[in-house]
Amino acid sequence: PGAMSEPLTQTPLEKTWVPWMKSRLSQRRGSSVPQFTNSPTMIVMVGLPARGKTFISKKLTRYLNWIGVTTKVFNVGQYRRDAAGSYNSFEFFRPDNSEAMKIRRACAVAALKDVCDYFTRALGQVVVFDATNTTAERRDVILGFAKDNGYKVFFVESICDDPEIIAENIKQVKLSSPDYTDCDKEEAAADFLKRIECYKMTYVPLDDSKDRNLSYIKIFDVGSRYLVNRVQDHIQSRIVYYLMNIHVTPRSIYLCRHGESELNLVGRIGGDSGLSPRGAKFASALGAYMRGQSIRDLKVWASHMKRTIQTAEALGVQYEQWKALNEIDAGVCEEMTYEEIQENCPEEFALRDQNKYRYRYPKGESYEDLVQRLEPVIMELERQENVLVICHQAVMRCLLAYFLDKIADELPYLKCPLHTVLKLTPVAYGCKVESISLNIEAVNTHRDKPENVDVDREPAEALETVPDHI
Ligand SMILES: *[C@@H]1O[C@H](CO)[C@@H](O)[C@H](O)[C@H]1NC(C)=O
Ligand SMILES: *[C@@H]1O[C@H](CO)[C@@H](O)[C@H](O)[C@H]1NC(C)=O
Repeated sequence: PGAMSEPLTQTPLEKTWVPWMKSRLSQRRGSSVPQFTNSPTMIVMVGLPARGKTFISKKLTRYLNWIGVTTKVFNVGQYRRDAAGSYNSFEFFRPDNSEAMKIRRACAVAALKDVCDYFTRALGQVVVFDATNTTAERRDVILGFAKDNGYKVFFVESICDDPEIIAENIKQVKLSSPDYTDCDKEEAAADFLKRIECYKMTYVPLDDSKDRNLSYIKIFDVGSRYLVNRVQDHIQSRIVYYLMNIHVTPRSIYLCRHGESELNLVGRIGGDSGLSPRGAKFASALGAYMRGQSIRDLKVWASHMKRTIQTAEALGVQYEQWKALNEIDAGVCEEMTYEEIQENCPEEFALRDQNKYRYRYPKGESYEDLVQRLEPVIMELERQENVLVICHQAVMRCLLAYFLDKIADELPYLKCPLHTVLKLTPVAYGCKVESISLNIEAVNTHRDKPENVDVDREPAEALETVPDHI
């Protein structure tokens, strides 16, 4: 048999151990993100203007990129603006405006071509096609295009007939659109309503029976009801689950780290120490600050580690403990100082500086692992309203990257100082951030990327950016 006739160039030990070790090493270095998609997926938005399609597109894209699925939005309205120049009025959108119709069709085609480029050249996995054309015919064009190229299609239709919700959406996002920059607000709103009427003339919603072979989710009245049809794969099921958890109720999320810990003071990473005297002062200051915010039904979350529990205890309110919020596991480097890591495993230290997001500590975790671990926390944060999350430096960076749409390269270097609360409030398509320092001194624990990240760098170069400690 084949295996027996292999030339015996390896000693028996190497034969068993070398492949085993190699696979172990590649496991440790390997990605923690499972391959979610085997063929590219187009998410196609359907629905009248001012139904939150752009909101859903941007939010979904941010989520998919954060969990490690490369995703981009293509907004056909933007192509139209680039092609048709400045906007005059709703007349442009009348179905009998043949000149404009030509432009609009050309824009949809141009956008589809860019979708192709994104999948083939930029190795994208998912695109969100944020278009307003709402006819069955245009959907057929997209389906034909996807079939020719081997892409899967999943439609997301937002249906809403509540005039109050629509008026609010127009006020929140449409009036600040480039189409209406030098316009009276009342006139702009009136024009926009007429624009919606133009679309209504040809709008055909996805049909229960005619479209029964298509994959889609229909979202009614901003999530009060859903209809899900023919989910084809893992990524579509994740998308459906996500869309069923998000909401638009105004609220704020407060993120902070535990108070300064005993190990922070001496520059040691990880471990499970308690608060320093200054850390305890921060915990009571945090309690006073949160009481000052006078929030109804505030949820407080901590990790399973002593330093966040002691911080939460000082608030004197009920709190929940999440193991998923525990600090990144530094494996064999737990409780070491950066100087000791450089001394004992200089190669590991350099590898981490080369790719801090993907680097996994021996017997520990990477930032990438941490994002996977935090996904249920993000999902629950989406479902909840006002929440204070008391967590840790690496954990807070991952959560912040989700809300602020930061890429993987930036994520491990986001500044999350001790004794500072970040207040995140959703606005239009993004998040407003306020940074509130509670004015209690603490050590700095932020280490910037050093200039030299080579494995054979001098110790002084490796330690150049280590913050001061006792
Ligand atoms: C959408 O595009 C199709 C052609 O692709 C066109 O016949 C239809 O009128 C357009 N719909 C609207 C609302 O403009
Ligand atoms: C759905 O697919 C089935 C099987 O491929 C086919 O027989 C049927 O005609 C399709 N229905 C519609 C409405 O396209």
